[in-house]
Amino acid sequence: MIRRSRTAELTAAELAGIRALVDVAFTDFSDHDWAHALGGVHALVLEEGPVLAHGSVVSRRLFQGERPLSCGYVEAVAVHPDTQRRGLGSAVMAALEDLAPAYDLLALSASERGVPLYVSRGWSLWRGPSSVLTSDGPVATPEDDGSIYVLAGASGVDLDGPITCDWRPGDVW
Ligand SMILES: CC(C)(COP(=O)(O)OP(=O)(O)OC[C@H]1O[C@@H](n2cnc3c(N)ncnc32)[C@H](O)[C@@H]1OP(=O)(O)O)[C@@H](O)C(=O)NCCC(=O)NCCS
Repeated sequence: MIRRSRTAELTAAELAGIRALVDVAFTDFSDHDWAHALGGVHALVLEEGPVLAHGSVVSRRLFQGERPLSCGYVEAVAVHPDTQRRGLGSAVMAALEDLAPAYDLLALSASERGVPLYVSRGWSLWRGPSSVLTSDGPVATPEDDGSIYVLAGASGVDLDGPITCDWRPGDVW
């Protein structure tokens, strides 16, 4: 029922199915958001037709002070509106969380609707201030404070400390 595939292993029809799902699940899913969801590993629920649920993990670099952290960043978690609250979001997250040993931590930027799902799965709010690394150095991203969640495992990160992400076009977090 749940399948995990790298982006390059997905057919054009499967990618189109994922894009259709995120467009219906989110009201404002941009082309930048779509680009952010590609290039890593996808977990998807497909049942003879539309993609019913999806999420992906892409590799990013975060920094806690001077300490670089390899991060599996979770993107585009979405369940079709007709099949929500049936455990599909949890199934997608479980398949992505299996990738945690490959990284120092998993992280994501939670929508309001995503928060109960992540909290129910043991994800923690990053309480410290966030920033993005630019060519001029770190720039604070206060608009993202309070919506970054991590599954830190044994990496020993300080959730009250500052956290910086690498730069990318569109939403940096
Ligand atoms: C967030 C989302 C992916 C959840 O998917 P889902 O398949 O409905 O989630 P599940 O059925 O696996 O829910 C698992 C648990 O998460 C929590 N949860 C999920 N949605 C919830 C909601 N709307 N209200 C309260 N708790 C919720 C509950 O603890 C739930 O367990 P329960 O149903 O036994 O109470 C889905 O609502 C969605 O696609 N929303 C729109 C897109 C979005 O915001 N995605 C998140 C991006 S960060």
